[in-house]
Amino acid sequence: MSNTILVGAQWGDEGKGKIIDFLTESADLVVRSQGGNNAGHTVLVGGKKYVLHLIPSGILRPGKMCVIGNGVVIDPVAVAGEIDGLLAQKIKVSPKNLLISDCAHVVLPYHRALDEQREFAKGKGKIGTTKRGIGPAYGDKAARVGLRMSDLVQPEIFREKLKRRITDNNAVLKAFGAKPLSYQDVLAAYEAAAAKLAPFVANTVVYLHNALKAGKEVLFEGAQGTFLDIDHGTYPFVTSSNTTAGGACTGSGVPPHRMDRVLGVMKAYTTRVGEGPFPTENAEISDFLHGLGREFGATTGRARRCGWFDAVATRYAGMVNGIDQVAVTNLDGLDSMATIKVCVAYKLGRKKLEVPPSDSDLLAQCVPVYEEHAGWQTPTDQCKTWGDLPKKAQAYLRHIAKLSGAKLKIASVGPNREQTILL
Ligand code: IMP
Ligand code: MG
Repeated sequence: MSNTILVGAQWGDEGKGKIIDFLTESADLVVRSQGGNNAGHTVLVGGKKYVLHLIPSGILRPGKMCVIGNGVVIDPVAVAGEIDGLLAQKIKVSPKNLLISDCAHVVLPYHRALDEQREFAKGKGKIGTTKRGIGPAYGDKAARVGLRMSDLVQPEIFREKLKRRITDNNAVLKAFGAKPLSYQDVLAAYEAAAAKLAPFVANTVVYLHNALKAGKEVLFEGAQGTFLDIDHGTYPFVTSSNTTAGGACTGSGVPPHRMDRVLGVMKAYTTRVGEGPFPTENAEISDFLHGLGREFGATTGRARRCGWFDAVATRYAGMVNGIDQVAVTNLDGLDSMATIKVCVAYKLGRKKLEVPPSDSDLLAQCVPVYEEHAGWQTPTDQCKTWGDLPKKAQAYLRHIAKLSGAKLKIASVGPNREQTILL
């Protein structure tokens, strides 16, 4: 029996959704502990495609319990819409398989409006956010002026708090030259969502405590990736939550000594959406992958920036998360490459670096030091077992896992459940 924290070891979009779906088979509960509907997990089951933003992908498996923890920021209208979408696709969703923490903060329309205004004001220095209001919602949480799910489901309290917050935020929006929000419109939309969500809202700390006491196995599903972490990522080009392993504890109320392993998910190459430094970014591999129809974002549809595998980054991710095992995804993306490069160090001026500099400006100046590997130039998407993989692909996988300081546990060769090789 073990409780697993799953994290992205790069800049998000590592294919966590698929790996989570795969691991959920042997778990009892799946917990989200940070982020909001900036995340997008794409899961393919039996030829059907599901894109989830806030609800853990465990919802797709009958009999599994899903929990949205206190560390998540929730857009109630979006999550109510996600529930309706799943119901329309004949997926059962009820308080029997989904609970939402009463301490989770609520994303409001002024958060989205401010996200947009701040990005606009930054001009060229923009972060490239998903414009889902994530930063301003976490900002309000830290400033202690946020509304929580427990407020949302108490109509009188909500009305009063919302009114004050809209007045305050309208003043800020006005200063930006943006349109103020109508209290009545926001209230109507949020009251409707609140009525739908109320049955799901609970003290999830107590629920999780009891589940663990009963010997249930829990999978903590990370959103985004290590280098988007508010503390450890490429600040300020980051998201506003702790995407690294510690976030699973603070964002769920499950103590650290209850965690048994940390599984890092990484692509066989690297991608990033939004702005910010990306040392191994490469136009050729970007064009190549986009030409295959790969690497378009699940949340915003934006083309992701692509580059070679960066072992300097994943080595650091190994440290900050305590990654024991890795799952390497999208191996098939490299199938037709004649030569595959792997970044093993950075050059910063005359200095050689084994770990990334903490400062984003310095990271942007780093030049990758590459190793070259001969590609396997054979399709891997039909491979079902380790033995089916070309020898060169096996060697590549083992090598990048070793460079990252972790044991290779899973290799993924396509988006379907069946295209997963367990070692
Ligand atoms: P925000 O989370 O919308 O504030 O965006 C901040 C940065 O994180 C931007 O670069 C986004 O593109 C990136 N980001 C946020 N969520 C995800 C995700 O789920 N996958 C990949 N990048 C993300
Ligand atoms: Mg994603």
